Amino acid sequence: MTSESLKVDFTGEFKINEITNPDEYLIGQGNFSLVYRSSQFPDLVIKRFRSTVSSEDKTTELSNCSRLKGHTHDNLVKVLDVYPEKDEVHLAFCSGGTLLSAFQRDPKRLSYPITSIKVYKQLLNGLVELHKLGFIHRDITMRNLLVNEGFVKIGDYGLCVYGANTATNRRVQSSDTNAPEQLVHKKYDVYCLGRVFLQLWSGNLFTKEKTVDILTSMRAFDSRLFDLISHMVSDAEDDRPTAEVALDQIMQINFDVSYTTSAVSSAYAAFSVDNRI
Ligand SMILES: Nc1ncnc2c1ncn2[C@@H]1O[C@H](COP(=O)(O)OP(=O)(O)O)[C@@H](O)[C@H]1O
Ligand SMILES: [Mg+2]
Repeated sequence: MTSESLKVDFTGEFKINEITNPDEYLIGQGNFSLVYRSSQFPDLVIKRFRSTVSSEDKTTELSNCSRLKGHTHDNLVKVLDVYPEKDEVHLAFCSGGTLLSAFQRDPKRLSYPITSIKVYKQLLNGLVELHKLGFIHRDITMRNLLVNEGFVKIGDYGLCVYGANTATNRRVQSSDTNAPEQLVHKKYDVYCLGRVFLQLWSGNLFTKEKTVDILTSMRAFDSRLFDLISHMVSDAEDDRPTAEVALDQIMQINFDVSYTTSAVSSAYAAFSVDNRI
């Protein structure tokens, strides 16, 4: 697979929300951190833990980031440096912001099949790499997926567990993509990523109650895609493919040439974009 062929044209500039001091700009925040951009080094962001984060949680994220430091992959956010003494991690800046913000700007655009499938191939590529490196991510949601110049990257390594097949459910938060099981294996991530695809495909963030309808529209479009995604979001872990098998399967389908406009539009007739967020 060539990186170029998977590039996606995202529109919209990343917004700088707030200036906190002359050298740093707040550009994002999550439950565990505030994320700043440095005016001095525009290619990096500084992820700084909130004071409320426990030392155990900090240690986990710092050690995940230390393991990933310097590793380069098109579909993983690059860790540049780790500073335990300052409670900071430095990451490569992703100028397109989160996939959630790109989605909210224009959900229809990302739900166009060729686009959603390109995004999806990239994300599966990132997940395969992360699993190969020995991590389970545990927090795959559009908020933790970043966009940079046509590439989508898995970020936020705060809930990752390393080196184990099983983890406890500690700190796994409820989100619109959570898998039903309590104990987390690699297949947990496969489920969450399957749900992200349902969101992209349908242009709707609230997919859990509409799973059957969305999958039905997918089957009308392509039965192989339907097979793959319905297995990925199966409640039964054993039914789900590994990320590697899922990537293999989706790469075998050449969507760019095989579909007519009418197949695309009939698959979409059932959906309207949900503007609740
Ligand atoms: N590399 C990056 N480039 C641009 N923005 C980022 C980057 N990393 C994080 N952000 C922004 O900061 C927010 C919080 O980052 P995240 O790593 O998810 O923190 P938390 O662990 O607190 O959830 C993200 O949702 C995003 O808006
Ligand atoms: Mg996060």
